[in-house]
Amino acid sequence: MAFAQQLRVPGPTPLPERVVRAASRPMINHRGPEFAALLRDIEEGLRWALRTDNDVLIYPCSGTGGLEAAVVNLLNPGERALFCTMGSFGDRWADIGAAYGADVVRLRVEPGEPIDPEDVERILAENADITTVFVTHNETSTGVTNDIPAIAAVVKARGKLLAVDSVSGAGCLPLDTDGCRIDVLVTGSQKGWMAPPGVAMVAVSAAALARADATTTPRWYLDFVRERKFQEKSQTATTPAVGVLFAMQEGLAMMREEGLEAIWERHARVASMIRAGVDALGLRLLAAEGHRSDTVTAIYNPVDGADTLKELLTDLRTRHGLVLAGGQGDLAGKIFRIGHLGMIDDGDVYSILATLEQGLQETGMRSRVGLAVPAAQSVVRSVQVSGQPAGVS
Ligand SMILES: Cc1ncc(COP(=O)(O)O)c(C=O)c1O
Repeated sequence: MAFAQQLRVPGPTPLPERVVRAASRPMINHRGPEFAALLRDIEEGLRWALRTDNDVLIYPCSGTGGLEAAVVNLLNPGERALFCTMGSFGDRWADIGAAYGADVVRLRVEPGEPIDPEDVERILAENADITTVFVTHNETSTGVTNDIPAIAAVVKARGKLLAVDSVSGAGCLPLDTDGCRIDVLVTGSQKGWMAPPGVAMVAVSAAALARADATTTPRWYLDFVRERKFQEKSQTATTPAVGVLFAMQEGLAMMREEGLEAIWERHARVASMIRAGVDALGLRLLAAEGHRSDTVTAIYNPVDGADTLKELLTDLRTRHGLVLAGGQGDLAGKIFRIGHLGMIDDGDVYSILATLEQGLQETGMRSRVGLAVPAAQSVVRSVQVSGQPAGVS
């Protein structure tokens, strides 16, 4: 029996104790001065973490609400837009576009592959009437990170608006919203922000707000212009998720104490450790080399058959308290995923890898133990020797 649970799905992520305490504070009036101060503090923290001077709108909904907000504010029915998809979250965004009647052009790559900026360039060259490009920063279903600066350069050279889903990347992976001239950047409280689910944060450029002002797609709850008017008065248009915002404020305070670049380096190191450990176990990664995510690792099922994989994940959860994620959609039964974002450090990785190895042995998938942790330790040693952060691989 496991006495404690180690939640290592790619969101919701574990909450630091400080955050749990902050989230349980008594309620406040969301139209009063205490809330105004809370919202201002969070907005400032998010601008810092996202590297933007743009407005960051705060919605009481999950990340998908942020994706929908981008569509309904940027696109008119019938308007042609490019949706770049490398997995289920990219597909979801394109489906939302189609649901609102946009003329969706889908650039879709095989699971494990990133978007090639040259393909984006070719499609934009062939379709001059595309107004907006939607792209996932970090595809949580496959563990692939896109090269957003390269994609942004292509999109911006052609004067298009750019919307980026960084629900599982922002706050963990290098991201320069203003440097890349991202018009709409979507993220969610339950990922790298070390807060519970329930809040979508959407950074919007002046060009995105101007577009929203002119767009005719019916909307109310997710309207950028209405929400911004309220946030200018340090309120939100509807009742906010106050408890989640208390948590986010504390999570952001912890992030400030650590420093943004230190956070990025920690995620890069931890991810390299996970990959080294998994490799030492003889397991294979889904994501193509050079594009592997530093927040989520997708690993092929070590044996044939979805039942055995299910048995492994159940053994890890019930005997050892380690909760990992399976695959989504077509990848169900074919892969499993380890989330390593938000509150995670070297010691957590050793624990995850040793437990995974134990589970593999218990379910008869591997006979030897003791390989994964030393492999991860050697990554830490090499980082210490070189003084360089572990890079993307
Ligand atoms: C990349 C990405 N986009 C969008 C979403 C959807 O967010 P939510 O489940 O909070 O609606 C997720 C959730 O895991 C995600 O990882």
